[in-house]
Amino acid sequence: MPLSSRDASLAPTTPPQCGARTSSHSGMSLTLPRTIAHRGLSAHAPENTLAAVRAAHAAGCRWVELDVQQLGDGTPVIWHDAGVRRCSNGRGKLRHLDLAQARQLDVGSWFSPAFRHERMATLDEMLALIVEYDMGLNLELKISYRHRPTALVEAVVPRLLAALPPSRLLVSSFDRVALRTARDIESDPHRLHLGLLSDKLTKDWRADVDTLRAYSVHLDWRKLKPAAADAVRSAGLHLLCYTANDPAMFLPRWEWGVEAVISDDPPLFHGHVAGATS
Ligand code: G3P
Ligand code: MG
Repeated sequence: MPLSSRDASLAPTTPPQCGARTSSHSGMSLTLPRTIAHRGLSAHAPENTLAAVRAAHAAGCRWVELDVQQLGDGTPVIWHDAGVRRCSNGRGKLRHLDLAQARQLDVGSWFSPAFRHERMATLDEMLALIVEYDMGLNLELKISYRHRPTALVEAVVPRLLAALPPSRLLVSSFDRVALRTARDIESDPHRLHLGLLSDKLTKDWRADVDTLRAYSVHLDWRKLKPAAADAVRSAGLHLLCYTANDPAMFLPRWEWGVEAVISDDPPLFHGHVAGATS
């Protein structure tokens, strides 16, 4: 995959962007990367598939962000939408499928005929691949309309804790109930790092992160203001942004204290991370 050779003036400091840097939080180290591949390397492979994670690994990415939901039979699968229409050759709701039915879907051809054999990945299959590649995982607990957060979290979090060390796992969600349930399952914030997802800071954000003993806040990069970034950093929290694919536009945010960007195409950020120190 070609690396970006955009405006050289936008490259003040240039550590390898898919490389990782270690941050310390309350005595527990988590190896947080500068860039995280959103839904796998979703610019170049069908999102949230094993192929997208293989592509991320091949591109040198150390971490991926993926979404998890449950099928109707309770199987946790890696999937973003409530329905299957956008990213498969099928129709209907995910919660109306069991695993055998989900397996029949072609989840790659919508992206490219080259991926026509791709099948929906279960969480267990995905975790096995992440472990094999020694990658880090930011798993988003995706709570679609009328889905029960507790059932998903109770199915997912024990699997995560069994598969990955705390230094390679960050669980995030827009859903506060899901995050609180995850914290109830693992009360030690050093053993389970939680990230609060929000498009921008809400009036309750500080109470939420305190209750959750959260590690990080993940905000929409387009809505981020310096004051909000400062508030997050001043609270001792790590700040991530989603989902940015324009490194030049993103550039000032590194100076505001953003630690990692979630991108469909992390290699675009090569040479475009200002103020990185390691
Ligand atoms: O986790 C960041 C990002 O993935 C949140 O939005 O809709 O892409 O899952 P979405
Ligand atoms: Mg997501």
